[in-house]
Amino acid sequence: MKLSLKIAAILFTILFFILMVTRTPIADAQTQIVTAGQSPRFKNIKVLNDMPADQLGKVMNIFAASLGVDCSFCHNTKDYSSDEKREKQTARKMIQMTFDINKANFGGRTQVTCNSCHNGHEHPTSAPNLWPTPAPAEQKQPDPKPTGDQILANYLAAVGGKDKVAKVTSRHITAIRLEPDGKSETEDIWQKGQNIHIVTTYPENVTVTLGFDGTNPWVTSSKGGPVHLNPDDLAQVKRGAQLLFNPDIMSVYKKLDYRFTDEIDGKPIYLVTGTTADGQVDRLGFDVATGLLVRRVAIIRTVLGPFAYETDYSDYRDFGGVKIPTTIKLAQPGVRFTRKVTKVKINAPVADNSIFNEPKK
Ligand code: HEC
Ligand code: HEC
Repeated sequence: MKLSLKIAAILFTILFFILMVTRTPIADAQTQIVTAGQSPRFKNIKVLNDMPADQLGKVMNIFAASLGVDCSFCHNTKDYSSDEKREKQTARKMIQMTFDINKANFGGRTQVTCNSCHNGHEHPTSAPNLWPTPAPAEQKQPDPKPTGDQILANYLAAVGGKDKVAKVTSRHITAIRLEPDGKSETEDIWQKGQNIHIVTTYPENVTVTLGFDGTNPWVTSSKGGPVHLNPDDLAQVKRGAQLLFNPDIMSVYKKLDYRFTDEIDGKPIYLVTGTTADGQVDRLGFDVATGLLVRRVAIIRTVLGPFAYETDYSDYRDFGGVKIPTTIKLAQPGVRFTRKVTKVKINAPVADNSIFNEPKK
């Protein structure tokens, strides 16, 4: 059984780096971080030597997204260490140039990135756009400012109210996962509070199972057992699971702080930062008109700019008195898909609670 190229590409970002990175000795708080130059997983690192090894996957996805290309633009994908492609060699010069620009002009802070010039194109455009899309009008800032508590109260009322939320204890959900190239996969999802179990079935019966038992997020693949994620990606799997179809935001964030009023797709939103008990900060967007949560963004800084995990929630529909989003768009550099909910069964008994726990090897 051969994986189609597309699945391989999707799994690649999720699985490949992850596997590569975690096979290197994991640095604990006292020991030093393993750099890409030191890591035995990489054979031909010449300019990214000092970057933490677990940023390599993110930085490669940032390159691809910044230039609007895929990995094969710079690589022989059978041997990533090979320098046979001219583009890879040009990219090395570009990396050095970008480091130098930031060092000479911005005190070494990563202000200029590949995307500053390339902006999604192989060849940056030097001439200004003569028909630019007008910048959106500045949003009117509310006075007085709303508080995190008010925004939360609006949100809870918008999804159905605290009592109704408390009455829905589990959901069995069927969804379709749509890829940007038009392909799709089916998903079978169980949710109970923050616990989640998602089986995604790719063509040729390859399944990827993602779960969270309230403490431990995990991913397994029918193509090769458990998948070890690096800490950043694990944290995102955890947060995604905690929020997916779980309207009880305050079980996820300890604190919500209003920042300012912004817009998404022309609609005003309250931009709020959500801080978890372990100190992680997400940016959340709540629709001013409806009160509903429409976006979550988490940002990881790399040596070559921000790597964003973005989730958009829309098409909220009522199931058993509680509204949940039925279109969920996930994006990060190099990975994008849309999850469309097709069926929801509320309070269906979970036959076996152990489905949320990581399967034993
Ligand atoms: C714009 C060009 C470019 C793109 C696109 C790109 N890479 Fe790279 N990649 C490089 C360069 C340059 C290096 C070497 C960096 C160095 O020498 O420090 C590298 C190194 C690597 C390495 C380390 C190889 C080794 O053993 O030394 C891996 C693995 C890798 N890339 C994977 C990927 C993957 C996967 C993608 C697609 C998500 C990708 N790259 C996209 C330019 C690119
Ligand atoms: C200061 C602006 C600037 C920055 C920053 C920048 N580039 Fe470039 N890049 C250019 C220009 C200009 C070209 C030449 C385009 C052409 O030939 O039309 C180019 C060309 C390239 C090419 C060759 C494209 C081809 O088709 O042969 C690659 C690969 C590349 N850049 C990768 C990167 C990567 C990776 C980064 C980030 C590490 C980066 N660039 C950062 C301006 C920039």
